[in-house]
Amino acid sequence: MSFEEVKTRLDIAGQSHALRFWSELSAEERAVFLGELSELDAEELKDHCRVAAEAAKRASGDEERLDSRMEPVSPEFIGSVCKSDQETLKQWEDEGFLQISENKVAVLLLAGGQGTRLGVPYPKGMYNVGLPSGKTLYQIQAERIRKVQQLASEKYGSSCTVPWYIMTSEFTLEPTEKFFKENGYFDLDPSNIVMFEQRMIPAVSFDGKIILEKKNKIATAPDGNGGLYQALVDYKVLEDMESRGVQYLHVYCVDNILVKLADPVFIGFCVSKGADCGAKVVEKAYPAEPVGVVCRVDGVYQVVEYSEIRPETAEQRHPGGELMYSSGNICNHFFTRDFLREVAQKFQRQLKQHVAIKKVPFVDEEGNLVKPTKPNGIKMEKFVFDVFQFSKKFVAFEVKREDEFSPLKNADGAPVDTPTTVRRSLLSQHYHWALQAGAKFLDEHENPITPILRTSLDVDPPAICEISPLVSYFGEGLVKLLKEKNLKSPFLLNENNVKTLVQN
Ligand code: UTP
Repeated sequence: MSFEEVKTRLDIAGQSHALRFWSELSAEERAVFLGELSELDAEELKDHCRVAAEAAKRASGDEERLDSRMEPVSPEFIGSVCKSDQETLKQWEDEGFLQISENKVAVLLLAGGQGTRLGVPYPKGMYNVGLPSGKTLYQIQAERIRKVQQLASEKYGSSCTVPWYIMTSEFTLEPTEKFFKENGYFDLDPSNIVMFEQRMIPAVSFDGKIILEKKNKIATAPDGNGGLYQALVDYKVLEDMESRGVQYLHVYCVDNILVKLADPVFIGFCVSKGADCGAKVVEKAYPAEPVGVVCRVDGVYQVVEYSEIRPETAEQRHPGGELMYSSGNICNHFFTRDFLREVAQKFQRQLKQHVAIKKVPFVDEEGNLVKPTKPNGIKMEKFVFDVFQFSKKFVAFEVKREDEFSPLKNADGAPVDTPTTVRRSLLSQHYHWALQAGAKFLDEHENPITPILRTSLDVDPPAICEISPLVSYFGEGLVKLLKEKNLKSPFLLNENNVKTLVQN
């Protein structure tokens, strides 16, 4: 596209200021900039900037409260790990493993975020949280995929594959690809790992103008994890799923160290209920906990943000004392491929745009880069869960937080969701698996360490024990390895020492 064409587009969109440094640019810089600007559609850009500025104005006032229109999830649409008997859980698990063994299940990772709160200059999945094994989040996830494939194959006697779809963004695609390659795809078959990229959209100033982060580059941000639905279309991902016979998707976030990929119990529950869309939830820790709540608004399922509910509603309880709105969303979803197709084809343009007010680095009138000290820009994001409203059969599945949810959001020093807290969650879980399997722990002087059954998540477990996902996916198979064994802390159970343990 020529300079004149681009200029006309920007004029139509009311954004001609983007070219104010044009005369200062080299031929090469101009070519790069023209390439970027040619991607923008004038009308879409105009709308985007207007909507962002209007939404930011509204957001600075009071949030709309939804209390009067809210109802909890109907009990018949909730499954629960805690409240179901062992036999029912086993039936769901068997069903899930069956679907996995028939190659009908894939996992889809949302890994396009910028991880600004954690603040590392590489994708969050590459973060090493300081486990004895030194594994990164990506490696832990890869190994859980390998293990769940193996368990399903053994159970139903046919080898199977759980393809791994990974949504990345301009920030995360290249380093993620490189990291996977350097690590031999963690011994997964690379043809079963499909990476694709979500779109980026311009950041906008409070007066509705796109922001320049360089003289020849507009500031953009990924379009939120709800950008998934557009990306599925852009990269023909649903067609790829179809060609592999995948019918069910487990969609999850990169930062939850406890995530059970393709969890057979969750998949089995959703499939048994005939659901097209499902959400794993954890019980809210306390009424004011700042997590989104899965509930109905005007009879339609959705996630309501904490800020949209009054404290008195958040504190409402059932006669038995349980919180009425207790289903905390943990960004861990089940979708059928058919449902995703319907959303991608019919509904994704209707998805709500959420406003995030951020500090966006920009170039000033003299062309100097400025890192603002207070928020100056608007980023618009779509959320993956905003499609619940389109579901014909929505279910929720309540799981135990200590078993399944511990996200890495912040750098150490913050009170919650840090490398320290996620490491502790994983190590506490593995310590308990080992105790339940009959292991005993010794300290460095070979003295017994007194076992503590449920340690608080605020302190480290009394002994350090890490169990590779390649040995155990959810605590299974450990009795034969660990019963009556004295394990010296720190203890790392992996595929290399399994044989020795069996022999002793
Ligand atoms: P968060 O909302 O926690 O964002 O993402 P983040 O990027 O990880 O961290 P901050 O807010 O910048 O500190 C939840 C999940 O959604 C993905 C993230 O990668 C994470 O798995 N995500 C987020 C996307 O895939 N794309 C996006 O545009 C935003």
